[in-house]
Amino acid sequence: MKKEVQLHDRHFELFLDAEAIQAKVKALAEQIRKDYDGKPLVLLCVLSGAFRFAADLARYLNDRTEIGFIKVQSYEGMMSSGLVREQLAATVSLSGKHVLLVEDIVDTGTTIRFLVEKIYQKAPASLKIATLLLKPDALKHPVQTDYVGFEIPNHFVVGYGLDYEEQGRCLNDLYVLKA
Ligand code: IMP
Ligand code: MG
Repeated sequence: MKKEVQLHDRHFELFLDAEAIQAKVKALAEQIRKDYDGKPLVLLCVLSGAFRFAADLARYLNDRTEIGFIKVQSYEGMMSSGLVREQLAATVSLSGKHVLLVEDIVDTGTTIRFLVEKIYQKAPASLKIATLLLKPDALKHPVQTDYVGFEIPNHFVVGYGLDYEEQGRCLNDLYVLKA
């Protein structure tokens, strides 16, 4: 694992290594399995950042789990724009299903709030939220988070699916912007 990486013009340093991330994802998946107790589930992955977290969670879930994708955009560079746009509607039917929305990170909460509203319009049987990362100090809206991997300080992070201007998603570890 690298101690530092450069993406575009910015330098990042190691924050959480792949081993810690994988251990946490496995623990979350075990909790999810227990909570849903064999019920069929739709894992709804928020593209693009959550693709790795969703794939790793999926390894541990039951055979009847469905995988869907939804894509929104709110971030520009390193800032939340405050506006959310849907770029891809949910790729699977959600009506009457137990939906687990899978996010990479909840920052201001704007994206999750928007998504939760959208998904409830589809009348799911239930809706829960799993996010790998949560920045409690950045939250601007009260949001529902049922499964949280790590609470982190209000700093910009990349890796394990999260990007800076589309770079960094392939890194297996998480890195934080250097001061
Ligand atoms: P929110 O709408 O402010 O909660 O932001 C959520 C979205 O912004 C996430 O789904 C990410 O795509 C992106 N985001 C927020 N914080 C970070 C970060 O530290 N690194 C990379 N992307 C981030
Ligand atoms: Mg995202």
